[in-house]
Amino acid sequence: MVVTELSQQHIPRHIAIIMDGNGRWAQLRGKPRTDGHRRGIEAVKDIVDASIEFGVKYLTLFAFSSENWKRPSVEVDDLMWLLRRFLQSETETMHRKNVRIRVIGDRSNFSSDIVKLIEHSEEKTLGNDGLYLTAALSYGGRQEIISAVKNLYKDVIDGKLLYENIDTKIFTDYLATSDIPDPDLLIRTSGEKRISNFLLWQIAYTELVFSEVLWPDFKRENLALAIEEYNRRERRFGEVMV
Ligand code: FPP
Repeated sequence: MVVTELSQQHIPRHIAIIMDGNGRWAQLRGKPRTDGHRRGIEAVKDIVDASIEFGVKYLTLFAFSSENWKRPSVEVDDLMWLLRRFLQSETETMHRKNVRIRVIGDRSNFSSDIVKLIEHSEEKTLGNDGLYLTAALSYGGRQEIISAVKNLYKDVIDGKLLYENIDTKIFTDYLATSDIPDPDLLIRTSGEKRISNFLLWQIAYTELVFSEVLWPDFKRENLALAIEEYNRRERRFGEVMV
């Protein structure tokens, strides 16, 4: 698929991606898993550029789950090293590309230097209005929902919110993604067909596309194919189209 064809298509406003298959990519080549993560970073840069080119407004990437902390410490350390390097070297580049960077997830698990780097990236790119890039780091959908429930409950107790007024719209305001629309399209790479605790509330009406391609090999052509697949679907939001 070429981009000229894509111009005939409806581009999803918000694409979320579960980037999976780094480890298998490396194992297939007899390399350590960490090599897969390094190539995974390159794929992130390509897909950010492709999203800008295609006119996607919001891109949300599942970069590190709450459960990923349980991986062998050598792999976690390597991912943290890559994250540091990414934030240090890419913030300026992303800023020049008018990308706004935001991180969702539990920051309390990160070392203080990483938290500072995240804050710096967010502050530096705060005024950008091109691509809105959200990185889910130390993120879990269930944890996000519990956190929203706790904050909502506190507001009810404090008299800031009336119990009778709680509805799906109000609840959404308590989620980490309250300032961005729900994803139109969710892509998971590497052939796995699971949601794995990603954006559980937000994907209620999202189209799901599963790609066989391992994340380090996922290129703009693959993103274009996923968008093409999305265009073949008819989104009805539970209604009957006449
Ligand atoms: C899944 O591959 C990928 C991840 C653990 C997260 C994605 C990470 C990157 C793209 C690198 C950048 C992220 C950070 C935090 C710097 P896997 O290892 O689960 O692959 P497998 O299922 O083949 O083992």
